[in-house]
Amino acid sequence: MDAIRLAGDEDLERCVEIVRTLPDYFTPDVPDRVRSDWAGCATWVTEREDRVLGMVMVERRSAKTAEILWAAVEPEHRGGGLGTALVQQVIGALGRAGVELLEVKTLDESADYEPYVATIAFWERRGFLKLDVIDPLPGWQPGNPCAIYVQTLLR
Ligand SMILES: CC(C)(COP(=O)(O)OP(=O)(O)OC[C@H]1O[C@@H](n2cnc3c(N)ncnc32)[C@H](O)[C@@H]1OP(=O)(O)O)[C@@H](O)C(=O)NCCC(=O)NCCS
Repeated sequence: MDAIRLAGDEDLERCVEIVRTLPDYFTPDVPDRVRSDWAGCATWVTEREDRVLGMVMVERRSAKTAEILWAAVEPEHRGGGLGTALVQQVIGALGRAGVELLEVKTLDESADYEPYVATIAFWERRGFLKLDVIDPLPGWQPGNPCAIYVQTLLR
């Protein structure tokens, strides 16, 4: 039985480990960025039999806005609905906390990078709308077009 809960500091290294299992998706600097982002974010994890299998990390930008900074599910469990359940839980919790607009940045389809076809489909199926594409985005390598996706949580 899967359980979704807010992460504690004891979950950080396991979340970093999951990110490390996805080298086609995350550049080598990302594990350290997850560590440095951790304290300023809220992270939700999904757990099965006491093992964390996925995470979604969220940074509040203002009282009414937030961004999903990192999302990852262990490769052998991808495509099984864990990411959807996590994002639904995050959206519900943020909506109840007064967040009205949620952002996620991802690699745009114009990069023509096959691994992100599924990722883009995932965000679009979860209700995110592409607002803009920026290349280069400060902090991202040129040639990696950044798609800005947003979703209103107003109901
Ligand atoms: C993105 C991620 C967190 C989603 O978690 P998940 O548990 O795999 O997702 P789910 O099983 O809940 O949903 C799978 C969705 O992905 C999409 N998808 C999966 N494989 C796909 C493929 N080959 N082609 C197109 N869409 C695909 C589908 O839209 C599917 O949603 P649907 O069932 O509603 O159609 C996870 O796959 C992951 O860690 N990916 C690698 C890291 C990453 O891209 N992180 C986000 C960076 S912005």
